[in-house]
Amino acid sequence: MNVLGIETSCDETAAAVVADGREILSSVVASQVEVHRPYGGVVPELASRKHVEAIVPVAARAMEEAGVEIHGLAATQGPGLVGAILVGFSFAKAFAYARNLPFVGVNHLEGHVHSVLLSDDPPAFPFVALLASGGHTALYRVSGPLSMELLGQTRDDAAGEAFDKVSKAMGLGYPGGAVIQEIAAAGDPGRISFPRSWLSEGSLDFSFSGLKSAVARYLETHPDSWRDDRAHIAASFQEAVAQVLAQKALAACRAENCPRLALVGGVAANQRLVSVCQELGKKPGVTVHAPPLSLCGDNAAMIAAAGYYRLDLGERTSLTADVFASTPPRMS
Ligand code: KG4
Ligand code: ZN
Repeated sequence: MNVLGIETSCDETAAAVVADGREILSSVVASQVEVHRPYGGVVPELASRKHVEAIVPVAARAMEEAGVEIHGLAATQGPGLVGAILVGFSFAKAFAYARNLPFVGVNHLEGHVHSVLLSDDPPAFPFVALLASGGHTALYRVSGPLSMELLGQTRDDAAGEAFDKVSKAMGLGYPGGAVIQEIAAAGDPGRISFPRSWLSEGSLDFSFSGLKSAVARYLETHPDSWRDDRAHIAASFQEAVAQVLAQKALAACRAENCPRLALVGGVAANQRLVSVCQELGKKPGVTVHAPPLSLCGDNAAMIAAAGYYRLDLGERTSLTADVFASTPPRMS
């Protein structure tokens, strides 16, 4: 079954065609980063307008590149920016109605988990997934393509959000993850001791707002010198995030007695995070799986893949269904 996936939950207009939930026939991503960069973050109204401009050409290109008949539609239904999601969701519904094709709404977070199943080295079930993106940070036990149990999540900021806010505070622009990683390469991760929030003993929840505030305080209290120490600040901050994410992810593997860890979401592009997970995973024999960079950030191939399994089971989303901003992830 060839599924056309549509993703517009934030600042990427994306469309992809995936065969049988596994083979990517095309994947087109139109980024709006340049539109939002001057504002230091995503402006929801601008995002919606840009999605309206881009959705038809992006979907047309994905279908042209794939060059196959489409058998079903899958579109992100939430969570994310409702005005932005509505554009892709409405497009997909209209397309499905016009062509009389089955349609299913997909949870964006479930989509991210599917990105690792599209990689060359997908983990076998069950595995633990660490989802770290600009909007979410969570751990799941994934027992099958549609079976994901939430083990823990952030109580405040998402990991990617912390990267973006620290980057903004240091005048490094938006988005922050890639630029912090680049600057951190020349810094000493042990130079500044930023707080690492473990929460209560055994907790698989996260908290990053204290770390973010500690970096802001450091900048305030070192107004004359912090610019010279940019690399050390970036490296020490990145190390704090990577250690907390990796140690909790490995703790989840231990608790679930599961020797496979998948890293998904935009922050999975962070090389330091991947290597800390690999280092910590060595002794307990946990293998670390991460999708290629093109599938870490938002894309529609992961939505088409997740949608395929639902369509295949006969699940259909009503053409009168609405999108959702932040309801708890639907994980069955
Ligand atoms: O998954 P994604 O594209 O969108 C959401 O669903 O949020 O994730 C975007 C997030 C941003 O916060 C960005 O700063 C972060 O992923 N990110 C990174 C890196 N590349 C992107 N964070 C750390 N290191 C990176 N190399
Ligand atoms: Zn995302």
